[in-house]
Amino acid sequence: MTRVVPIDPDHPQQAAIAQAAEVLRGGGLVAFPTETVYGLGAMALDADAVRGIFAAKGRPPNDPIIAHIADLSHLDQLTINPPALISDIAAAFWPGPLTLVMRRGPRVPRVLTAGGDTVAVRMPDHAVPQALIDEVGPLAAPSANRFARPSPTTADHVLVDLYGDIPMILDGGPTRIGLESTVLDLTRAVPTVLRPGGVALEDLKRVLTHVEVLETVVKDDQTAPSPGTMVKHYAPDARVMAFDGPRRLTLAALHDAAEKLLEQGQRVGALLFDEDAGAVSDLALTTRRLGDLDNLEESARNLFSGLRALDDAGVDVIVVRLPGDEGVGLAIRDRLARAAEGQVIQVEG
Ligand code: TXA
Ligand code: MG
Repeated sequence: MTRVVPIDPDHPQQAAIAQAAEVLRGGGLVAFPTETVYGLGAMALDADAVRGIFAAKGRPPNDPIIAHIADLSHLDQLTINPPALISDIAAAFWPGPLTLVMRRGPRVPRVLTAGGDTVAVRMPDHAVPQALIDEVGPLAAPSANRFARPSPTTADHVLVDLYGDIPMILDGGPTRIGLESTVLDLTRAVPTVLRPGGVALEDLKRVLTHVEVLETVVKDDQTAPSPGTMVKHYAPDARVMAFDGPRRLTLAALHDAAEKLLEQGQRVGALLFDEDAGAVSDLALTTRRLGDLDNLEESARNLFSGLRALDDAGVDVIVVRLPGDEGVGLAIRDRLARAAEGQVIQVEG
């Protein structure tokens, strides 16, 4: 049985928080909204509770989990010698969609860090996890999807993936950002983005003089520095064909590929920017809108729910065009390239 408890995302009801805190203190799992995606929480310093997360998600044990805090003082429980630049970074981006990789403190169970000497920490910008963490301390929480499925942006998505496997979901409505936090590794000589996400690279560069970005779409999970960043992630059941290149040529290539698939009798779904919809309106596609090309925040919010909706509609293939890499576009490109299992079709100009 999974209990779904409605909660006000801005002013969480104390009764709901108390129920969830009781489950967590008992070593149980609670799914909750954050500003990025829904998380599947357990007490971060309780090794058995954290093991429960891996079991419920079907997550491989080599993929470490983020610890969530509500106050900078919580860092003492998780890290040793946090780097000097943490205060500038925290002042600029916390609470918010930025995860920092630092040295693991002695109290942190190895299961959380997948055996490694680093720990990833984030302070979510959402009243529900803040209230929970105030009650029970730091929470381990990956995205609350079953392993390799698109991350959940509503309580319903969590329910579809994990019904019966977790005791409680706090339903605080759809999440504001819609894709996961940016993961920034501070243990390297130069701070390095391991996963693009809710904080844009341009914004990081305003605070940090040097930032590197890892080539994030890694095909072989053995060589992935952040194992959760391997491909075959965020994937719907349908095959995803992602097209990249100059807009008009790319739309033409997407159109022709979709037409050919339809002729072969395949059911074809399309995830479309509003401005692109006209280019395929002659085809019998099942479509979902990402949003206005000028408002990639909107597309980020609609991305995972769009992939899930097309799956639910029963399509065999999903065609999609990648946006540019400005702002949150970098993270959208990353998630779509992974959904396509790294096989992005490059259209040359
Ligand atoms: O927005 C988010 O980050 C959401 C919400 C719930 O906070 N969480 C999330 O967690 O996306 P998850 O587990 O789905 O993704 C965490 C990513 C994975 O790619 C994982 O490999 C990486 O962070 N990660 C965690 N600990 C790490 C570490 N010590 N070193 C390197 N990468 C780490
Ligand atoms: Mg995840």
